Amino acid sequence: MKSKKNLVFLGMMGSGKSSIGSLVAKKLKLQFVDIDKEIEKNLKITIRKIFETKGEDYFRKIEEKITLKELKLNSIVISLGGGAFTNKNIRREVLKNHISFWLNWDNKILIERIKNNKKRPLTINATDKDLIDLIKNRTNIYSKALYEIKCDNLTKNEIVNKIQKIYETN
Ligand code: S3P
Repeated sequence: MKSKKNLVFLGMMGSGKSSIGSLVAKKLKLQFVDIDKEIEKNLKITIRKIFETKGEDYFRKIEEKITLKELKLNSIVISLGGGAFTNKNIRREVLKNHISFWLNWDNKILIERIKNNKKRPLTINATDKDLIDLIKNRTNIYSKALYEIKCDNLTKNEIVNKIQKIYETN
């Protein structure tokens, strides 16, 4: 029987939460919700602009509100923003009622990807050291997810299949 729980993807920026999440949703024939996109849709501006004009604290409040609202839906696939799981209320809800997957990659791969994308407000001017510190700080938190998927040596298809298998045992 299909679980009513949501599949929740978390991890660093550049870890593929949106791309893997949407592939998993397609495969399992479930709805896919990308929280960053929901925030932009709701506020009608980009996340970068929200950070620039209203600041990070404001963004985090909106992020909490929208994430908790979307988590009330059943049997969907959700990709969180990279910082969402550091929020206690979001974390508590995800761990209590949903199936969470941490997409974990080698630091080098993450840093390369983050540096190649200049759209993310938190890391526009970040040095390698800043990124390593951020990854280090968040690793403890991400590791609380129900499942860790070590992605480095897997193809996208293999990652999706692995997640599907886990989902089917829940
Ligand atoms: C953030 C990650 C971003 C976005 C915002 C803050 C973070 O999402 O929510 O820029 O704190 O790590 P992605 O992980 O989807 O890039």
